[in-house]
Formats: sequence, structure tokens, C-alpha cells
Amino acid sequence: MVKEINDVDEDLDEDFESAIDDNMNSSIDELEKKSIDSKRIKKIDQSKKRAVIESVFDERTVFLLNKLLVNGPLERVEGVISAGKEANVYLAYDHNGNEVAIKIYKIDSNTSKWMRNYIIGDPRFKKIPHNVSKIIFLWASKEFKNLQRAYKAGLRVPKPIYIKNNLLLMEYIGFGPIPAPLLKDIKDPVNLEEIYNEILQFIKILYQRAKLVHGDLSEFNILYHNQRPVVIDISQAVSTQHPKAEIYLTRDIKNIFHYFEKQGVSILDPKTFYYDVIELDK
Ligand SMILES: Nc1ncnc2c1ncn2[C@@H]1O[C@H](COP(=O)(O)OP(=O)(O)O)[C@@H](O)[C@H]1O
Ligand SMILES: [Mg+2]
Repeated sequence: MVKEINDVDEDLDEDFESAIDDNMNSSIDELEKKSIDSKRIKKIDQSKKRAVIESVFDERTVFLLNKLLVNGPLERVEGVISAGKEANVYLAYDHNGNEVAIKIYKIDSNTSKWMRNYIIGDPRFKKIPHNVSKIIFLWASKEFKNLQRAYKAGLRVPKPIYIKNNLLLMEYIGFGPIPAPLLKDIKDPVNLEEIYNEILQFIKILYQRAKLVHGDLSEFNILYHNQRPVVIDISQAVSTQHPKAEIYLTRDIKNIFHYFEKQGVSILDPKTFYYDVIELDK
């Protein structure tokens, strides 16, 4: 495990450059960017930002982040995009002024306990560490690997850039400093039917090509960007070989169908879709 993370580390510069090159944001009009920039000053509450940084940044994380800033690809870390129970997400900039999202997992023993359930039974993770921080590191690397698999399968997820310990760098989804909203926060999206179909395709391709089940798929983990969905928060995704893969798949389908039905989209029969995903005729 550790060896693989170090391998990624060595490829840092190359990966980082290429990720930035084809970053989805590259097409943003510079003018639009500047006008949003001036608005963001109001958006970030400095005292809240400091408090959040203090609660999540243990010494090792500070050291790591500092390395990325001093010798690495990052120019500066900006505000908090999200402060969650398990992780915080920050907006940062690379040396070319492009946005990057950093997800930092908190080293927490309660969190590491439930994480074990998703790691045990996944054939990709043979040795399960006992040490709390090692479980969290494994978890972060799991999100990175899941992102890689989904991204390689051509799915709309943030492009993974770098992983080290509990710190994950990925493509930032948003316009300038304004992160893309979650699907749950969009009032009456115009193209719901298309989004629904795209999410069904996502579930299918993730299962059939990337051999993964998301496991926490809902309107809370789908960003709405350029009127299209981008799926995030893929850390708990399990291999289709995992003993609970089908339970998680059923749950994902239920959540998604429930949301779109509530929005007035005429949905397929969830059972038929389920068998379609696992490629069984029923
Ligand atoms: N790549 C990204 N670009 C922009 N915003 C992001 C990105 N990843 C996460 N976010 C924001 O951060 C929030 C938390 O991220 P998520 O991965 O869902 O972690 P969790 O729900 O476990 O806290 C998301 O709801 C979203 O608003
Ligand atoms: Mg989430």
C-alpha cells in the first residue's frame, strides 16, 4: 500500500501538470473569472476558515501541506469549500493560478471504525491496518484509486491528481472560486431528464467497466456543473466483488430513483434497472 502511494508521489509533477492541462476549468472565460474573484472576498469568512483549519490540521498534515506549498505544486491554499465530519475540502491554487481541490481526512478513531467495514472484504485491500491513522490513509488512497478507476472508465468524476497520507488533490469543479453547487441545492434544474439518464449511465458504467459500486450515491454527492452532473465522494465505493456490493448498489439505485421521482421525472422500474446493471436477465 505504502509503496504504491510513494510511487504516486514520484509521479507528482508529471501527473499534476497533465491534470491541470486538461482541467475542465480551462475553458472558463478569464473575464468571468475576475468578476467572480472580487465577489468571493465576501464569501469566505476568515475566522471560520481559521477555526476549521485548526481542527483538521494535525502536525503531520501541516508538515505535508507545507511541503506541497514550498517544494510542490501548490501556490496557496484558499478558503474552505466544505467542513464535514470525516474530511474538509479546500480550494487551492497551483503555480499557474489554476484551482485545485484538496480533501483532507481527519485522523479520528470513530471514523476509522466504520471505515473498516468497507475495506474488509474488498479484494484490493488484503492487509487491514490496526493503527487509526493508517486506516484513514488507506481510506484516502481508496478514494484516490476509486477516482482513478472511474476517471479511466470515462466517467464524470474529478480527475485525481495526487495522494499522500490523508491528503488528496483532485480536479476542482466550479467556476473560478465559486465551487459547483450540489444537485440537491438546485431549484428546478431545467434538464432533469438528461441528468437522470446520465446518472443511470454512471451507475452502469461504474459497475460494468470500473467494477465498482459507489455506495453513497445521491443528490448530496452529485455536483451540478455546466448543466451536467459530476459525481464526487467516492471513498466508500467498493469492488463489485465485495460481499455487500449488491446491497450498496440497491441502496444507490433506491436513493437516485427516489430523488428523480420526487422531482417529477418518470422513472424506470428500479428492479429492471438493477438487473440491467448487473447484466442478468430477469
Ligand atoms: N472536486 C471538487 N470540486 C469542488 N467542490 C468539491 C469537490 N469535491 C468536494 N467538493 C465539495 O466539498 C463537499 C464535501 O466533499 P465530499 O467529497 O462529498 O466529502 P464529505 O461529504 O465526506 O464531507 C461537497 O459536497 C462539495 O460541495
Ligand atoms: Mg459528500
